[in-house]
Amino acid sequence: MIRYTIPRGVAWRYVGFPRRLAVPTLTRFSSTFIPQPNAKVKRIKTKEELAREKLEEQMQSKNWFVRWGAIARSERFTKGMTKYLIGAYIFFLIYGLYFMKKLYAKEKELETLEAKLLEGKANEFETLRIKELRGKLRTRDELKLAKYREMRKDEGQDYSEFDNVKLENNDQNRLNTQILPARDTTEFYDAKAADYDKGVNFEEKAIFMGRRRKWLMKHCQGDVLEIACGTGRNLKYADLANINSITFLDASKKMMEITHEKFREEFPNFKRAAFVVGKAESLLELASGGSSANLDPSTKVKYDTIVEAFGLCSHQDPVKALKNFEMLLKPGGRIVLLEHGRGKYGFINKILDDRAEKRLETWGCRWNLDLGEILDDSGLEIVEEKRTHLGTTWCIVAKRKGDVKKETEVGFIEKYFGSSIKGKFEAYENANKPKDSKNNH
Ligand SMILES: C[S@@+](CC[C@H](N)C(=O)[O-])C[C@H]1O[C@@H](n2cnc3c(N)ncnc32)[C@H](O)[C@@H]1O
Repeated sequence: MIRYTIPRGVAWRYVGFPRRLAVPTLTRFSSTFIPQPNAKVKRIKTKEELAREKLEEQMQSKNWFVRWGAIARSERFTKGMTKYLIGAYIFFLIYGLYFMKKLYAKEKELETLEAKLLEGKANEFETLRIKELRGKLRTRDELKLAKYREMRKDEGQDYSEFDNVKLENNDQNRLNTQILPARDTTEFYDAKAADYDKGVNFEEKAIFMGRRRKWLMKHCQGDVLEIACGTGRNLKYADLANINSITFLDASKKMMEITHEKFREEFPNFKRAAFVVGKAESLLELASGGSSANLDPSTKVKYDTIVEAFGLCSHQDPVKALKNFEMLLKPGGRIVLLEHGRGKYGFINKILDDRAEKRLETWGCRWNLDLGEILDDSGLEIVEEKRTHLGTTWCIVAKRKGDVKKETEVGFIEKYFGSSIKGKFEAYENANKPKDSKNNH
């Protein structure tokens, strides 16, 4: 056996092993092995070692995507993440329980208050509280509720201390001097008709109003009435396949002439269309043949869908107009509105208020109206209320008071967590059940 001596301080570098391991290792080599001073003997790295080296290299990478990808795969991170995930899971579990508890308490309170309202025993505070729980407070309601809360002596859910209290209304449309008084705009629109489309096109394109008009018109079905149709800007979104008849109404003759022209061009073969010049406030008289003497809303023409776009802001009496719509609606029919009014934020309302006069002069409309107040005062029941453009564009679907909601109109929360939803469904089912054969003939 040949013994090799490996020079001190060199051997481990060449061979790649600590010095004390070098001799036994070398003793296994054949007798012809002659170590070369510059030869590097490399141990083959395992797959795991190579992967680890690559990961470490990537963790130092200048490319943040590579670096963070490597960090996310590192053992330290994944172990830490497990802890975070367990923590987050516990947090959401606790939060979920808390949320459900609150939801349940809210639904219980709502159930009690609504039962009281139905019996006609709810005081003003309780009526406002119902609106608050339903998320339907208007500005005037918020102001009133805040006053009530200042007056409250007891905490808790006993509101009987307000049984004989009624506070003054804070109507924004009445008290805000920057919301200008309503006026008859017929002459204004007669004069504006020829330039109307050209003026409005750019503004509407910039804020993608076409999508909202499409939304409005997709609700049209059966016998349809379009109020304040103007120059017929909604026509291109109408699907006549779902429409049995369509009636257009506008106070301005000149605006109506443009609608008529456009309609005949777009739908030359559709015969069940009527074009009426008149005011929304006189709708009942118009529906009863122009006479207010024999006004009997129950026998008049009725509609499945009444739509209106940007009309309430130029009506003389928007509340009366909405009340009229309700009178002309068939059971189960819907009023669909696309309107503009006050927004959800102070800064946007300031802009609307500051430019209210200019807007009225240029476009004949009061764009800073509190539409929520108008809707509430009309007594219509709101099925859907969506607001866009910082809350200034209002998309409303409303129904007659007391009509039941359709199944498709009930939201997820209301469907599964709503207090009286079972009853509402039953009412809906009963209303839609085919009557027995005796009643049918
Ligand atoms: C701002 S334009 C909106 C026109 C159209 N709906 C649109 O989306 O472009 C308002 C329209 O409402 C009409 N209008 C104003 N007051 C009305 C009333 N009391 N009854 C019916 N139409 C009215 C005007 O003649 C005008 O055509």
